[in-house]
Amino acid sequence: MSQANRWLKILAPLTAVMLLLAACGGTAPTGSAPTTAAVPTTAAVPTTAAAPTTAAAPTTAAAAPTTAPEPTAMLEATAMPEATTAPSAGGEIKLEIFSWWTNGGEADGLAAMMDIYKKDNPGVEVINATVAGGAGTNAKAVLQTRLQGGQPPDSWQVHAGRETLSYLDNLQPLTQLFKDEGFDKVMPKLLLDQLNINGEIYTVPVNIHRSNILWYNPKVFKDNNLQPPKTLDDFFTVAEALKAKGITPLAVGGHDGFEASHLFESVLLATFGPDDYPKLFSGDAAMWDDPRAAQAIGTLGKMLGYANNDRSALGWSDAAQLVLDGKAGMTIMGDWAEGYFKSKKATPNTDFSWVASPGTDGIFIWLSDSFGLAKGAPHPDQANAWLKLLGSKPGQDAFNPKKGSIPARTDADKSLYDDYLKWSIDQFATDKLAPSATHGAATTNAYQTDWHNALEVFSADLDEKALLQTLKDAVPDLNK
Ligand code: GAL
Repeated sequence: MSQANRWLKILAPLTAVMLLLAACGGTAPTGSAPTTAAVPTTAAVPTTAAAPTTAAAPTTAAAAPTTAPEPTAMLEATAMPEATTAPSAGGEIKLEIFSWWTNGGEADGLAAMMDIYKKDNPGVEVINATVAGGAGTNAKAVLQTRLQGGQPPDSWQVHAGRETLSYLDNLQPLTQLFKDEGFDKVMPKLLLDQLNINGEIYTVPVNIHRSNILWYNPKVFKDNNLQPPKTLDDFFTVAEALKAKGITPLAVGGHDGFEASHLFESVLLATFGPDDYPKLFSGDAAMWDDPRAAQAIGTLGKMLGYANNDRSALGWSDAAQLVLDGKAGMTIMGDWAEGYFKSKKATPNTDFSWVASPGTDGIFIWLSDSFGLAKGAPHPDQANAWLKLLGSKPGQDAFNPKKGSIPARTDADKSLYDDYLKWSIDQFATDKLAPSATHGAATTNAYQTDWHNALEVFSADLDEKALLQTLKDAVPDLNK
């Protein structure tokens, strides 16, 4: 397929989605399509604080969704006339939170935090505006339209790190709130460094997730006398054995538009190691000429050869479910899959088990979900109360055990966390850390769009040369 056709294939469903959204008038106003962003003149190195000299605006276009994203703004509050919070300018007492947390686990964590908020702020109508699609592939496009139409939600989900550069025009600094609440005293240094953009902090992190985890079905492994793979070679040995038994070795999604790029970052880390992997996202296009880049793409293609063929029809949670059901042996996904498993009443180490993704033991690909305060937020007082809750110990200890993530604070109550999360807390403290490209720690929204799309196309056509070229061409978008 020609390059032009490949992009047409991606953009056509996107256009349809945007038209549909406009027609529905859901949470998205019918603003114009995203335009090109301003370019930060300094490319931030992903593992250190980002420092653009120009505020970047987002350029997100959603990765090709196969169905229309559904804005699901839900009014969560019940009638509670007794307001304790001052009404906003319009006289309403509301709070609108925008995220892409719709699946089991992630939606439960959000609900747990909103429950605390509602208890502490009776009378505030909490609007849970969610747009389905993991990694925000759909939500970010809807959000972009709202921002450009001057209709921001009060607070929205942003990955800490480089992705925040994509919203600098739209967010208010929260540095003072951080100091007032003492968040700067209790959050890990790595995270504080990542949040610091030219001396200001713009978002409050609620968690730390790990991307490079291989989840497996322990019963399937036991029945077939298999050990979880430690290296890429082990992976292929195990995959071959499972295939011989008629079990799908690796469950991979694609419907959410990020599942292949998610898998790829683990393979890149295994191939480049923790020192060189971040350089792939440092803005140096020559990194993609390193023979290890082509090698990693080859490995990814080989892994996909052991995956289900209906990838584009399955979301990440459907792939996780295949493992839980014993229909597939393994899946490589972030630990929101742990939250999903638990939402299905599955027990760690009984119904599912985990190891670092092959070849990455001792390295933790981190990402962090954080929330900002919109410039011109319709309900700033209510939003401030939300942000304080997000960064607080009670807020994080209510959210993270359900979300499958560890707290973004060092003083959490560990007894509230299950076996997997206790392990992850320990690993985060001792492992080498590498930033996620797929989930915004190392990349801007503009780059993520290229990245997700390129990998989803590859998941379908397995054209190694085309993928390498597309990724090389995408490098300048790290600065948009
Ligand atoms: C990530 C996000 C996680 C989880 C995941 C799947 O980008 O950081 O919290 O929501 O997408 O939706």
